[in-house]
Amino acid sequence: MKKLIVANWKMNPQTLAEARKLVSSCEHRMNTVSDHTEVVMCTPFVFLPALTHYTHHVKIGAQNISWQESGALTGEISGQQLNNFKVSHVIVGHSERRLYLGETDSVVNLKIIMALKHKITPIVCLGGDEDANKENIKTLVTRQFRAAVKGLEEREIKKMIYVYEPVFSISTMKNSEPETGEHAALMINHIYDLLESKVGRSAENIPVLYGGSVNMGNVHEYAQYPEIAGALVGAASLDPENFWKVIKEFNRESVHHY
Ligand code: PGA
Repeated sequence: MKKLIVANWKMNPQTLAEARKLVSSCEHRMNTVSDHTEVVMCTPFVFLPALTHYTHHVKIGAQNISWQESGALTGEISGQQLNNFKVSHVIVGHSERRLYLGETDSVVNLKIIMALKHKITPIVCLGGDEDANKENIKTLVTRQFRAAVKGLEEREIKKMIYVYEPVFSISTMKNSEPETGEHAALMINHIYDLLESKVGRSAENIPVLYGGSVNMGNVHEYAQYPEIAGALVGAASLDPENFWKVIKEFNRESVHHY
């Protein structure tokens, strides 16, 4: 399985010129890593039309999808609208949406169903909740996982990407604390156990990533664990050199374990 590095730009950058620069600085170098590593950049909706026509190696994803097909939902974007462009992935269940926009477990489940229906791969974040802390994170991840895959068929569960992203490790959160690689790997193994209970041995072919303050300074801490299939990167993905070093480190470990 290739390593997967996902950029979550959030509500950045502020101009299309900057967005183009972020994509092209990575795109130009991707041929040196693309045998072992994939990159998805999840950008604000407004940049999708321009960027999806622009890339070859780097895949472009969205940061949200409506749980409804169409209709009176001010500010929402439908799966079919995303299908107008080559949007390959969509982030679902991010803790910022759970915390600030009231996204519930059942809405996350409906969004996943909608993404799958429109052949867009959901990147499902597990670990975000108002009450999340180090003591209850395993219980929380278990609950969010079960709710996310509720009613899905085995083949659908296998098509998705999962991220262990504890909200208290996100760089922009107050008092944020990055996970140790050891604990991140432990939690990722827990998610693999949950996946195995649903799809059996083929769970090992499903990417489970780590997210939370990953940057060029600490990436080795995570990349050294073979069970960590890649990373979801926020702040560091807005700095081309920082993001490239994250990609390169996961790629290096992947080549090493190949
Ligand atoms: P961070 O963000 O890398 O800045 O911690 C990650 C995320 O929120 O997805």
